[in-house]
Amino acid sequence: MDTQPIVKLNEVTRIYEGKVMHRALNHLDLEVEQGEFVAIMGPSGSGKTTLLNLLSTIDVPTYGRILIDGVEPEALHHNELALFRRRKFGFVFQDINLLHMLTVEENLVLPLTLDNHPLEEMERRVNELAERLDLTEILDRRPDELSGGQAQRTAIGRALIHKPKIILADEPTGNLDSKSAKDVLELLNQINETERTTIIMVTHDPIAASYCDRVVFIKDGAFFNEIYKDERRQTFFQRILNVLSLLGGHTHGLSSVRLP
Ligand SMILES: Nc1ncnc2c1ncn2[C@@H]1O[C@H](COP(=O)(O)OP(=O)(O)OP(=O)(O)O)[C@@H](O)[C@H]1O
Ligand SMILES: [Mg+2]
Repeated sequence: MDTQPIVKLNEVTRIYEGKVMHRALNHLDLEVEQGEFVAIMGPSGSGKTTLLNLLSTIDVPTYGRILIDGVEPEALHHNELALFRRRKFGFVFQDINLLHMLTVEENLVLPLTLDNHPLEEMERRVNELAERLDLTEILDRRPDELSGGQAQRTAIGRALIHKPKIILADEPTGNLDSKSAKDVLELLNQINETERTTIIMVTHDPIAASYCDRVVFIKDGAFFNEIYKDERRQTFFQRILNVLSLLGGHTHGLSSVRLP
């Protein structure tokens, strides 16, 4: 039985040195179970991106310890770490980051070509994913011929193609209209449920957060609160708004929103 959390932060502190020292994370403890879909929320400057950078192993804590799937990334050598990162994680960002000279299909397959997978396997995986993400008709297009939603679905496909255990997403719906945002969130939800892929998503949007199993709130680099979803997304959304208003966020106008 695999009962250890897939992500475990123990008293993690990240200090940025500079003219003035800045403590971006302060003794943060966090555990994420395999298969969880977690949103991270908090005011601007509270340390969310710093946290994602640590989770994605591109940065290391000043103090404290991080375990990803039982491994301490800090203990890995440079090459091992690059491989670890590539295999373990899929990344989805607000700026969609597709390669503009490549087609949708070529963008999708890119992570596999890096790892020298057999051609037939790559084709099978692309077709399977394209079907699921509703990209089959547009595989030959280039990024500038896509809608925002199609581009983000392509980016999600690229993040998924190597079957990562963990998806790290930084404001994945930040640049999308509400319909495309809903499609992307439902897609992430579906992936989380069918493949048990762990998803950790930073978002400012309480509607996006309401798709998750749990919302962790941070403030000034430290744990502030967390809430778990309940039967109805509408009531979960209201509870998210309540915590955000405690955090001093601007939630007015949102409390009357009925979720689609
Ligand atoms: N490279 C850096 N050097 C110095 N200070 C930094 C650096 N990166 C971030 N900070 C500071 O650390 C704090 C946390 O920054 P971080 O980017 O993690 O916040 P955030 O929660 O992602 O904010 P936002 O919601 O605006 O994206 C901020 O006060 C920021 O100014
Ligand atoms: Mg940020």
